[in-house]
Amino acid sequence: MYFCSVYCEKMQKREIIILGIESSCDDTSAAVLRNGSLLSNVLANQEVHRVYGGVIPELASRAHQQNIIPVVQRALDLAATPIEAVDAIAFTRGPGLLGSLLVGTSFAKGLSLSTGKPLVEVNHLQGHILSHFIDVPEKELQPPAFPFLCLLVSGGHTQIIVVHSPLAFEIIGNTTDDAAGEAFDKCAKVMGLPYPGGPIIDKLAAEGNPLAFRFAKPRVGGLNYSFSGLKTSFLYFLRDRLAEDPDFIANSKADLCASLQHTIIDILMDNLIAAAKQTGIREVAIAGGVSANSGLRNRMLAESDKRGWKVYLPEFRFTTDNAAMIAITGYYKFLAGMTATLDVVPMTRSGQ
Ligand code: KG4
Ligand code: ZN
Repeated sequence: MYFCSVYCEKMQKREIIILGIESSCDDTSAAVLRNGSLLSNVLANQEVHRVYGGVIPELASRAHQQNIIPVVQRALDLAATPIEAVDAIAFTRGPGLLGSLLVGTSFAKGLSLSTGKPLVEVNHLQGHILSHFIDVPEKELQPPAFPFLCLLVSGGHTQIIVVHSPLAFEIIGNTTDDAAGEAFDKCAKVMGLPYPGGPIIDKLAAEGNPLAFRFAKPRVGGLNYSFSGLKTSFLYFLRDRLAEDPDFIANSKADLCASLQHTIIDILMDNLIAAAKQTGIREVAIAGGVSANSGLRNRMLAESDKRGWKVYLPEFRFTTDNAAMIAITGYYKFLAGMTATLDVVPMTRSGQ
């Protein structure tokens, strides 16, 4: 009852302030949005995983525990917004690492309980997609028109989604094994590059020949993806070349990165083009960590010219994990009255 009266009053005022909290993997982030417009977005990266070549779940949970209070405080301070002015607390419920999600979920519940602010649970993947709707001051917002296609490419997911509205999604393509980001990171590790390898491959690829080497492009039918075969093909290729020349990786790093990146982009784009043909949709977006890749972004622009697509590339700061995307999703859910109860639990995998 109390919530309804506050809700209705705010709707009339048309000013909704959302605090977003993200802690699904190895980034602790908090953001404040007013009516979908960005007031602050604070991010604490966890450098601790770099030396291990991947995210160590227990270390991630501990770092979230250390970071979460200062990160949320900083986001509120930068937004010049006291917690009393916030209308709802949106947090990532999943998918992600259980220990990491528990930190954000428990913190959000505690804050909700102590302030009386409603909770909104957010699906991390929905957040990546809706990052296109974060309004940034002094920049004219050009969000995709519904329905649009979104290629969601991150460290944990590779999906083609028909987005019917901010809250209605239809997954029409999915990976059957590794995600595209994982393919970048695992192949980078094989070359001795640090974690996460995606951005490093992107940088090195700029100096190399994308057609220098050819790698297998596994096909699994329909609009689905498979990346584990590419990783194996890359591994065997290196093993054979290293047997002939122990310095092969060092001597061919740029060409290796450019060719690998070219192959991953080809695999991603083949199905996206097929999805556009199948659905007749020409509004096409990309989202998730791998959407920062310069090769993929250029290829999207090239396809836009060739196929008459209207292409949407997220701002770089909204490609990898951030709380602004959680806050914008929380905003739409709050407008729809979709609040969570205090017994909500993290969801480690999609749909569970
Ligand atoms: O969305 P994200 O931050 O986390 C997940 O939800 O998984 O994505 C992280 C992934 C990592 O695999 C990372 O290597 C990849 O995004 N990534 C990139 C680039 N920047 C980040 N991959 C290729 N090129 C990039 N520039
Ligand atoms: Zn993510």
